[in-house]
Amino acid sequence: MAVLLTYLPVVVAVAVIIRLLMTGRRPKSFPPGPPTLPIIGNLHQMPTRDAHLQFEKWAREYGPVYSLILGTKTLVVLSSDQAVKDLLDKKSNMYSHRPEMYVGQSLCSGDLRILMMGYTPRWRTSRKLVHTLLNISAAKSYVPYQILENKQMLYEMLTKPDEFLHNIRRYSNALTTTMVFGWRTPTYEDEKMKQLFDGFSEFADLNQTGIAGLVDFFPWMRNLPDWMMPVQKKARQMHKKEKALYLSHWLKAKADTAAGTVTRCFSEELVEAQKSEGFSDDQAAYISGTLLEAGSDTTSSTLYAFVQAMLLYPEVQRKAQEEVDRAVGKDRLPTMEDEPNLQYVRSIVKESLRWMPTTIMGAVPHAVTQDDYYNGYLIPKGAGVVNNVWSIHMDPKRRPDPRRFEPDRYKDDFQSLGDAAANPDASKRDQFTFGAGRRICPGIHVAERSLFLGVSRMIWGFDVKPAKDAN
Ligand code: HEM
Repeated sequence: MAVLLTYLPVVVAVAVIIRLLMTGRRPKSFPPGPPTLPIIGNLHQMPTRDAHLQFEKWAREYGPVYSLILGTKTLVVLSSDQAVKDLLDKKSNMYSHRPEMYVGQSLCSGDLRILMMGYTPRWRTSRKLVHTLLNISAAKSYVPYQILENKQMLYEMLTKPDEFLHNIRRYSNALTTTMVFGWRTPTYEDEKMKQLFDGFSEFADLNQTGIAGLVDFFPWMRNLPDWMMPVQKKARQMHKKEKALYLSHWLKAKADTAAGTVTRCFSEELVEAQKSEGFSDDQAAYISGTLLEAGSDTTSSTLYAFVQAMLLYPEVQRKAQEEVDRAVGKDRLPTMEDEPNLQYVRSIVKESLRWMPTTIMGAVPHAVTQDDYYNGYLIPKGAGVVNNVWSIHMDPKRRPDPRRFEPDRYKDDFQSLGDAAANPDASKRDQFTFGAGRRICPGIHVAERSLFLGVSRMIWGFDVKPAKDAN
């Protein structure tokens, strides 16, 4: 017994060392990937910027399904349309979870942000509510709001063309505040809007630091004191501020709904749902607050991509203007009813989403809830799963000469964005920018209309040309 006790520390130390050395290794059964180092796996190779380019390089080297070992966690990267269809779409009952994001979800969001929520009953309730706001018939009812905000954007393009990016941003932000809370944001400088959007970028900045990720890959780091891990303290403070802001908007909308003074908007529905489902004000505040976040920059970045494409490809712009002149004429602005006659404009929308995808690697990874086998490889329970949008879009077999902005790729594609995403033939999906499976962006129908109106009307009214200096 005494001998055993003497050796116990040695046995424990050996076990710990073996465990540590095993950490970071890629088991043979996993999809292939870049060579790993003990403990850290592939962490040292993770790019700090332009990650999509490195992820594309690995896809060319290791194939359409590869794995990265990040400390104690595994990330599986899907870089073909077929793999996304087979796993995220067809097996969406298993692939709709999210990896744990301790700093982003637990500390910054009090576990309330729908985009980062696991595949849980709470997510299902939130998603159902969001669906009532954003389903296709609801999306059609927002068109008058879109038309109004769009007119202001056109006016601002005319009067302050140098601020075209602000004009575009105000358009998409104002639309989401109207849909969600029932109030407009008439200027880009609007204080309420600024507060919300400054908060979103603070959140994004904090979560893009490598340290935020490290806490997920090595959970023991969560026990370190704040002076060693200041990111955790900052995240808690951010949540306090953010929750107060979201709550103030939600409680005001709730009071206005009770008083019957609210404009028709999502918050009205949320008030009713709260009565029947009984969720907290904190949850309601986060559902509405994070809808703004999810719906605003994504739409405006796509319109920004469109403007850039028009600068680089004037012949595309000319062809689109000819189509709009033919189908709509000069006396009125294009409307949603013109959509069937503006196939080239529709194709520009699809090509902008493909050519410069705003969610370049699928916004947030999915996660798998049980062990699964694909192409002979084990995808282990709990692994994060990335929809590698950029690599799929840049696959020359799928889209020849992929860096070229070429709307005619879609000349025979009459599918709506939602129908294309649901097409059982993966090769017929137009683009992957809205994600996949049960987590697919619920804002896809609203976004499709905002983008069509944004693009068709800018083409109707303007020539996009580079600014010239005074000389
Ligand atoms: C061009 C515009 C947009 C793009 C590219 C986009 C893209 C995305 C992507 C990639 C996801 C994650 C999908 C996945 O995990 O597979 C997502 C989620 C989401 N989007 Fe969008 N989005 C856009 C517009 C909108 C709009 C207008 C709204 C609402 C007003 C919205 C609300 C949401 C919400 C609530 C989620 C979370 C869904 C969940 O996790 O279950 N999005 N979006």
